[in-house]
Amino acid sequence: MAGQDTRTGSVSVFADREEATRHLADWLLQLATEKTEGPFAIALSGGSTPQSLYSLMATEPYASRFPWARMQFFLGDDRFLPHDHEDSNFGMMQRLLFSRVPVPAENLHPMPGIGTAEDAARSYETRLKQFYGADTFEADRPLFDVNLLGLGSDGHTASLFPGQPVLKEQTAWVATCVPPAAPYTRITLTYPAIHASRHVVFLVEGAGKKEAVAKVRAQDPSCPASAITAMGDLRWVLDRAASPDA
Ligand code: 6PG
Repeated sequence: MAGQDTRTGSVSVFADREEATRHLADWLLQLATEKTEGPFAIALSGGSTPQSLYSLMATEPYASRFPWARMQFFLGDDRFLPHDHEDSNFGMMQRLLFSRVPVPAENLHPMPGIGTAEDAARSYETRLKQFYGADTFEADRPLFDVNLLGLGSDGHTASLFPGQPVLKEQTAWVATCVPPAAPYTRITLTYPAIHASRHVVFLVEGAGKKEAVAKVRAQDPSCPASAITAMGDLRWVLDRAASPDA
């Protein structure tokens, strides 16, 4: 696999959010149905941007065409909260997608929201290693088929926030983060775990993100997302408002 980063990754710009969302749903459906061997593992992002995608995936024709029984759903990050809390990413996904499609409960892999945050990160790492079938990554064998990421206007992605110790983590697959400028303690995949993806996709929408997109594509070191790489390929899915080139 070639491997790509935020500079070399491909960029697709769509007229608006709806078009960008529909493109991504169609692409995910194609990938998931084309993969005939083994599970299709996808890590989902939280926040507001992907919510229209999750809602769309729960409507026809997607709801009856996704191979839900073969899909394994993980999270890129979550706020360390009980899943029924209104700001839980997993709770949001349950409401918009998982409760509305025939995905087996055992195919859902939420980050724990109770106990201690450190224990939650450790147990999620154990779950990922069990799924992967090894404790260290093999150069050409990804953990995730798709890793869906968002982007904050400060250049954070998942819960990899500026200036946080987690940015230096090169061994653990999952870590905690207490962002000074965002609510709640977080559990997040680390750079090495995100790298272990066949496809990394940034879904970014709105004029408020245009500057961050430009910085991250230029690999500005002040933006944690600039260091994101993919074992396979990386792609940007943008609406025109978020595109620096539009
Ligand atoms: C989270 C996310 C986070 C998100 C960005 C963008 O838990 O909040 O995973 O990384 O993707 O903050 O958020 P918006 O899509 O709401 O702008």
